[in-house]
Amino acid sequence: MPSAQVTNSKDGATYTTSSGLPVNEPYAAQRVGLVGPLLLQDFHHIDLLAHFDRERIPERVVHAKAAGAHGYFEVTHDMSDLTDNPLLKSVGKKVKATARFSTVGGEAGSADTARDPRGFAIKLRTDEGNWDWVFNNTPIFFIRDPAKFPHFIHTQKRDPQTHLKDADAFWDYLGQNPESIHQMMILFSDRGTPDGYHQMHGYSGHTYKWCKADGSFVYTQVHCRVDGGFKTLNNAQAGELSGSNPDYGIQAMFEAIEKGQYPTWTVYVQTMTPEQAEKFRYNILDLTKVWPHAEFPLRPVGKLVLNENPQNYFAEIEQAAFSPSHSVPYIEPTADPVLQSRLFSYPDTHRHRLGVNYQQLPVNQPVAPVANFQRDGPATYISQGSRPNYQSSIVPLSYKGAKGTLEGSARDYSRDLRHENFIGAAFRDLSEITELDFEQPRALWLYVWNDQQREAYVQNVAGHFGNVKSAEVRARQLSVWAAVNQSLSDRIAKAVGSPTVKPLQCKPAAEAVKFRTEIGLRQRAADA
Ligand code: HEM
Repeated sequence: MPSAQVTNSKDGATYTTSSGLPVNEPYAAQRVGLVGPLLLQDFHHIDLLAHFDRERIPERVVHAKAAGAHGYFEVTHDMSDLTDNPLLKSVGKKVKATARFSTVGGEAGSADTARDPRGFAIKLRTDEGNWDWVFNNTPIFFIRDPAKFPHFIHTQKRDPQTHLKDADAFWDYLGQNPESIHQMMILFSDRGTPDGYHQMHGYSGHTYKWCKADGSFVYTQVHCRVDGGFKTLNNAQAGELSGSNPDYGIQAMFEAIEKGQYPTWTVYVQTMTPEQAEKFRYNILDLTKVWPHAEFPLRPVGKLVLNENPQNYFAEIEQAAFSPSHSVPYIEPTADPVLQSRLFSYPDTHRHRLGVNYQQLPVNQPVAPVANFQRDGPATYISQGSRPNYQSSIVPLSYKGAKGTLEGSARDYSRDLRHENFIGAAFRDLSEITELDFEQPRALWLYVWNDQQREAYVQNVAGHFGNVKSAEVRARQLSVWAAVNQSLSDRIAKAVGSPTVKPLQCKPAAEAVKFRTEIGLRQRAADA
């Protein structure tokens, strides 16, 4: 089959229609006489307009505004004691990577410096298929119950009637769902306004499993720490840039890479054995919690480098499709319900946003050979030639590893289930708020931040929370801050001119831990 001769270079090209016909006058439409109506036979003109009419694809429902680049990931440390994933056992191996960094709530034209978490999505093209890291720049998240995600996101989008952003809706949701407070502490610190996309950390947030062929596994959290440190803007700088240069983040990363100042990250992993997870103070399936570094130290894994700007943003970044379910052998999801829901949601939205053959778009194609029985459909680009479209006995596809062995991704899950039933049983009521939810935010406020950071937090919150009109919404959210620390809540109340309130009441921490252990043990007895 002849391949298309598409001219990519910036100069030296001759103007043609999409069918390759050279056109000598690009602005002339064929018409009757000098000023008469246009002719239907004028393919050039119809081709031009019809394609223009279809230029837009749906923007991402979240994470619409972004910057992206290419580079590589290099394994610098042997992980073979933790996993049989081939890449992580190959020190010195480099795989090609594509990164897309984004804000979350705003539309594709919104400001890069908005106060928002940042998406941190990396596609690693490994020999065993694409491994996508669909991370954020915060180690935790707003929710632990996936059913809340659309509600929460809607409160950051536009009001159905006014078509305006609505501070009352935003804080109304948060006050009703106080497990969000840990993320709100980070979001309204200066970490909520990173200085560009290329000077921030990335975190898996979720707990994953790194597994071995013998059925053993460890729980993991991945951290990408930017070399040079996490750079932030203060509220005033971020606000000013939103107006003067809404594309500040895109520009800064593009120019850094053009100048050869490549952004680099050191990738680390935190690990926890299943036995440690059962005794850990917090539930490892709860992504509103971090694992303390002192207890679970960061272990270096590799290096991520971005050294190439895209030649075409739409093809190489906008059409990129990242999903936590694009995984590789021996790297597995846990039963975290938010992660489990995400495994479905991303490919689902890709089929809507890019079409059923989204994996065939050049940026999404794995370097690992693809052979299966998927065929045809809109915009088929790779049709797998003459290979039979069913499992034929004459030219069969082979399967990796012998049937019944633990090769590839077919592991024995019985050990995982033993532990995850213990942990998961104690995680049934995802909405219950306990004192455990306030311990880590309180540690940030009391011990991690200095006076200046505490004051910045109060002022950053006041600038947004001060727009809330409803006294009830204000009081509810102030009671959440009071549960973190009374003085924190009182300072915010004073800054926005609201009366002070008492902390919301919830189950004490010791009772929550005891309940969790008991219910886990009951589940274990039932499993036995
Ligand atoms: C983008 C859903 C939670 C990180 C998206 C998109 C959807 C989505 C539909 C658009 C994807 C596309 O159009 O290609 C959800 C749901 C969640 C959830 C349903 C929870 C139930 C999270 C969490 C993280 C995260 C916890 C990080 C730990 C990202 C990133 C992107 C994204 C980085 C942008 C990917 C890109 O650059 O293309 N999410 N999300 N999301 N999400 Fe989530």
